[in-house]
Amino acid sequence: MIEIKDVFKTYLRKGISNEALRGVSLSVEEGDIFGVIGYSGAGKSTLIRMVNRLESPTSGRVFVGGEPLDQYSEKELREVKKRIGMIFQHFNLLETKTVFDNIALPMILSKKNKIEIQNRVMELLDFVGLRDKAESYPKELSGGQKQRVGIARALANNPSILLCDEATSALDPQTTQSILEILKKINEEYKITIMIITHEMSVIQKICNKVAVMENGRIIEQGNVLDVFGNPQHQTTKSFVETVIHNSIPNSVLKAIQTNGKQHIYRLKFVGSSASEPILTNLIRNYEIEVNTLFATMTEIQDTTLGNMIINMDGNHLVINQAVSYLRNQGVLVEEMENVEYNHYFGSTNSSAL
Ligand SMILES: Nc1ncnc2c1ncn2[C@@H]1O[C@H](COP(=O)(O)OP(=O)(O)OP(=O)(O)O)[C@@H](O)[C@H]1O
Ligand SMILES: [Mg+2]
Repeated sequence: MIEIKDVFKTYLRKGISNEALRGVSLSVEEGDIFGVIGYSGAGKSTLIRMVNRLESPTSGRVFVGGEPLDQYSEKELREVKKRIGMIFQHFNLLETKTVFDNIALPMILSKKNKIEIQNRVMELLDFVGLRDKAESYPKELSGGQKQRVGIARALANNPSILLCDEATSALDPQTTQSILEILKKINEEYKITIMIITHEMSVIQKICNKVAVMENGRIIEQGNVLDVFGNPQHQTTKSFVETVIHNSIPNSVLKAIQTNGKQHIYRLKFVGSSASEPILTNLIRNYEIEVNTLFATMTEIQDTTLGNMIINMDGNHLVINQAVSYLRNQGVLVEEMENVEYNHYFGSTNSSAL
């Protein structure tokens, strides 16, 4: 659906060059809600603007629907762009136009007839829950309502792709939730592929099925949301994941461990069905060891449960090793917390050092 192949983008300003993208490749499939996350300046907006040709690559290529964007004439490109809607952090509505006219604008520019425009705008107003605001002006709306207008406008010409650049970053958590629900509905009911840029991992967690993490103009990690959340590899990805999956041992528990001099501390990660099965019960029943849960959390992603647990096992070394093998055979990811990590962790009072 969208294919970005080894794209570089260098901006030149007053003789100083700024490499915003340094070899980015990714592929968004039809029906995806593809999230791109990164800190400010990572190159996210530059990347998404490549998809609707608001920017063009310095090198590399962008394909939409299998066709390379760089081969279209201006006229053809205008047609392609109609199939790509976009919403923005600050909504970009025309303040002097009513809600109805803001939504109608792309259709007026596409020279659609009046009746078609009237019907489509009313349908979209219903879809975003703003039928009673048709004659209001943007300044009379809340941020969430403005973004609903932005969404309706982006959908006016029946696009097959919707691009969202920090569409919820100016909104409070509750309004963010309602906008994310609308985006999910757009994806499911209108079968629109969505690419979403954000710096909030909770946005990715709530609606995306795939994610790419950007840093300094590069993608440092990408994959299915469940895989990336379940087992992040890069430090930056880990930091983002930790904003939604809290996995540090509470200080009080840490102190107790230090006082008792406990060893054999393991981090367990469960994904999917294994998260709900009574693995720990079986562990205690089948192996002669004592198991203490130091920390546990469950997170739901993509209708799947992700379990994160830190346990301590006391008992014979050999039996503990067998127990670890058992856990691994059950599909649990097991990491022993020892050596550098262990010392670092227990040598410090900062429990978020994990
Ligand atoms: N039109 C431009 N001219 C010159 N430099 C630019 C331009 N647009 C972006 N940049 C630079 O490219 C880099 C990436 O910017 P970009 O806007 O893509 O980042 P971002 O990840 O979207 O950041 P944010 O989260 O703050 O929106 C930054 O260093 C930025 O200063
Ligand atoms: Mg940006």
